[in-house]
Amino acid sequence: MKELVSINDQIYSIKEAKISVFDRGFLFGDAVYEVTRSYGRIFFQIEDHIDRLFNSADNINMNLGRTKEQMIAHIYEIYKKIDIDNIYMRIQISRGDGPIGMSPKLVKTPNEVIYMYPFQPSPGEYYSQGVSICVTERRRNAKRALDPNIKSGNYLNNVLAFIEGEKINAYETFMVNAQGHVTEGTTSNIFMVKGKTIITPPEEYDILKGITRKIVIGIAQNEKFKIEEKGFGLEELLDADEVFLTSSTREIMPIRLINQNKVSAPGAATRILHSKYKEFINDYCKRAASTHPWK
Ligand SMILES: Cc1ncc(COP(=O)(O)O)c(C=O)c1O
Repeated sequence: MKELVSINDQIYSIKEAKISVFDRGFLFGDAVYEVTRSYGRIFFQIEDHIDRLFNSADNINMNLGRTKEQMIAHIYEIYKKIDIDNIYMRIQISRGDGPIGMSPKLVKTPNEVIYMYPFQPSPGEYYSQGVSICVTERRRNAKRALDPNIKSGNYLNNVLAFIEGEKINAYETFMVNAQGHVTEGTTSNIFMVKGKTIITPPEEYDILKGITRKIVIGIAQNEKFKIEEKGFGLEELLDADEVFLTSSTREIMPIRLINQNKVSAPGAATRILHSKYKEFINDYCKRAASTHPWK
């Protein structure tokens, strides 16, 4: 098979895959999810993604009904049905389906959906020339309202920001906090480069702790950049030497235009970090191929 959807351990074609209209993910966004991709049949940083999935579930009082190891083994078991080396994988788990009502007690077991289909890489010119982004005035959900670290099935905050960016043909849109500081994109984290210093919003901000973000910080430190995790507004961003975004499916992507103002892209620092990031992926995949029990 080239693509499939697993729903509660049953395999379906993409066309056949359906869940109940009473599912709480559909009704309330009462769900958690993760996305990663495989490189040559290895799911990159799968342990971190599954840790984050369990953390999201814990934070909404949802029991996923498996251990982390069982979850990874289960994902690899499903992958055996697919004969594509590089795939996109999304795991989406809702609290379940049952009578309509707020109480989670109305449902018994979660609905687990795993999507696997061929990974579509972003066009090469996005990396060679950079992309255009929007920094909107829309606030990111505050931690105390709906913590962005809960990677939940409720992305309406992000969708609304994205719609605003689309009006100026932005590829990605970044939201701000109450101080007007940039937080994160709808599905990515942000970095700026000033000389030998790399600056990114701190974890205490209303952001998801990106797995790519963490790796990039480690690589930048190894490459003798100074790392500063601190807040900044649009003005400072426009003044940066280089700006880039990070995510598991896009790796490190340079930014060329911010609210239609030109910034340099892609600069030397972004190039170095991306090439080191690719080495990191290769090392991880080599190591995982010989040590992962699940394969
Ligand atoms: C809101 C948000 N921020 C940041 C990211 C980047 O996270 P990661 O690097 O773990 O893919 C994502 C990924 O989808 C996201 O949804």
